[in-house]
Amino acid sequence: MDFDRFSSPFFSALFFILVFSRAEAYDYLDPTGNITLKWDVISWTPDGYVAVVTMTNFQMYRHIMSPGWTVGWTWAKKEVIWSMVGAQATGQGDCSKFRMNIPHCCMKSPAVVDMLSGVPYNQQIANCCKGGVVSSWGQDPSAAVSSFQLSVGRSGTTNKTVRLPKNFTLLGPGRGYSCSQAKIVPPTVFPTPDGRRKTQAMMTWNVTCTYSQMLASRNPTCCVSMSSFYNSTITPCRSCACGCQNNSTCVPSDSMIQSVVGLKTPTKDNTPLVQCTKHNCPIRVHWHVKLNYKEYWRVKISITNFNYRLNYTQWTLVAQHPNLNNITQVFSFAYKPLLPYKSANDSGMFYGVKFFNDILMEAGPDGNIQSELILQKDKNTFTLNKGWAFPRKVYFNGDECVMPLPDDYPYLPNSAPKNVIGLSFLFSAFFVLELLVFW
Ligand SMILES: *[C@@H]1O[C@H](CO)[C@@H](O)[C@H](O)[C@H]1NC(C)=O
Ligand SMILES: *[C@@H]1O[C@H](CO)[C@@H](O)[C@H](O)[C@H]1NC(C)=O
Ligand SMILES: *[C@@H]1O[C@H](CO)[C@@H](O)[C@H](O)[C@H]1NC(C)=O
Ligand SMILES: *[C@@H]1O[C@H](CO)[C@@H](O)[C@H](O)[C@H]1NC(C)=O
Ligand SMILES: *[C@@H]1O[C@H](CO)[C@@H](O)[C@H](O)[C@H]1NC(C)=O
Ligand SMILES: *[C@@H]1O[C@H](CO)[C@@H](O)[C@H](O)[C@H]1NC(C)=O
Ligand SMILES: *[C@@H]1O[C@H](CO)[C@@H](O)[C@H](O)[C@H]1NC(C)=O
Ligand SMILES: *[C@@H]1O[C@H](CO)[C@@H](O)[C@H](O)[C@H]1NC(C)=O
Ligand SMILES: *[C@@H]1O[C@H](CO)[C@@H](O)[C@H](O)[C@H]1NC(C)=O
Ligand SMILES: *[C@@H]1O[C@H](CO)[C@@H](O)[C@H](O)[C@H]1NC(C)=O
Repeated sequence: MDFDRFSSPFFSALFFILVFSRAEAYDYLDPTGNITLKWDVISWTPDGYVAVVTMTNFQMYRHIMSPGWTVGWTWAKKEVIWSMVGAQATGQGDCSKFRMNIPHCCMKSPAVVDMLSGVPYNQQIANCCKGGVVSSWGQDPSAAVSSFQLSVGRSGTTNKTVRLPKNFTLLGPGRGYSCSQAKIVPPTVFPTPDGRRKTQAMMTWNVTCTYSQMLASRNPTCCVSMSSFYNSTITPCRSCACGCQNNSTCVPSDSMIQSVVGLKTPTKDNTPLVQCTKHNCPIRVHWHVKLNYKEYWRVKISITNFNYRLNYTQWTLVAQHPNLNNITQVFSFAYKPLLPYKSANDSGMFYGVKFFNDILMEAGPDGNIQSELILQKDKNTFTLNKGWAFPRKVYFNGDECVMPLPDDYPYLPNSAPKNVIGLSFLFSAFFVLELLVFW
């Protein structure tokens, strides 16, 4: 195997295509991850129905952060929304045909957002009013649900005449989700609080939305850098990992930040305002192999925010490494193994401890968080050679981060670059294998 071939633009390009096209169809570490919208018709009205819509985020490590979700759909006929509880349509539309009672929304394609906390009690229902922020299932299943109620008019009034809404959309808060068609499912059964009686929806339909990183943004949004105790060279993030630097859209340094307008004004889609760096990413994850004990080894993880416009609340970090099956201690982060496949216990999610470091602050002196891990060695597999001690994949907030090229990994002083060829080969073989599996 010729060493230089892997540094060639062709192979880099191939590497890129393999990494980022796969993200489109399928999330390897969360294969069933989705957000489900369930519409339960709880009563019929003279001209329509009252429905409770429940959004459940079944994704293990991708939450919906502030400024929250926006759900949209297109009515099949001439339906209107008379009223809503726990959420609101962003526009009313043209209700000029109505004289006495004016609907809440007359738009053909309404867009609905959650209420902020602190709305009057008579406008709330259970699981509403969190500003559209929804936790991931892996982090907190009890906060992974968001609900609202709406009263629909000018629609069918039996389960035979109702026409299901079409073309559902979900912003969470940015693009990235695509939603299935609504599908009629067996009616939901609701137990009463005392558990002694069950009631049932008149009719229920479900919509499933799945995430694709390719749809969400043209460029990746985070990168990985590396270092180790056995080699003083720091392997930086790849240049242009998240697109190339554009001096007109990045901030040169902390000291210049005061002069920038529009700072601390989060935009609806969280468009970042980043510090100028070679990698151009809003987030950098650094993996440092810190110590090598007899039975254990120690890693330090640091996450740095380069985005001046965003505090990342409820952040998550996912890593894949074969030794995570024997993680012994995690300092200052919470950890939970991810087990999408029974055969492998090699990936897990890290997230912040409430009231301590569950917010990754905006870029600047406080814009970083750190943790250390202790892993127990399996003497048959452990090695510092060939980049083994570094993660295979890293995700921040559910988006896959760009790894350094295999040839750039820190290597042991006494090992010739030969070993790195082995590594390149291993990596390329791995990706070709994946190619066969996923295409
Ligand atoms: C959505 O996620 C749930 C929970 O993981 C799973 O049971 C369901 O099959 C998923 N639905 C789809 C359409 O993937
Ligand atoms: C509609 O209601 C009838 C009974 O009124 C029931 O037999 C039927 O299964 C329902 N259909 C759907 C799609 O829920
Ligand atoms: C739904 O979207 C499809 C494709 O985007 C479009 O062809 C269709 O007209 C839309 N339906 C409605 C009711 O808007
Ligand atoms: C509909 O969605 C709910 C979650 O809100 C889920 O429990 C249920 O299994 C879904 N039904 C089907 C048939 O997918
Ligand atoms: C830099 O950003 C500006 C404004 O967004 C854009 O017009 C220009 O094309 C960008 N340049 C490059 C090289 O991406
Ligand atoms: C951006 O600015 C840096 C110095 O601040 C300069 O070295 C670099 O060439 C500039 N890049 C572009 C695309 O203008
Ligand atoms: C981040 O949080 C801090 C403290 O709560 C606040 O002062 C700052 O304005 C927030 N930044 C953004 C971009 O929202
Ligand atoms: C996976 O590894 C963790 C330690 O990181 C361990 O606590 C857990 O029991 C393992 N689970 C399985 C199913 O092997
Ligand atoms: C941890 O490593 C030991 C070998 O050092 C191995 O026997 C054991 O199965 C590992 N634990 C798990 C949960 O895989
Ligand atoms: C450390 O690793 C780098 C590659 O990241 C390599 O160029 C350098 O020679 C290594 N240092 C030693 C002392 O081997």
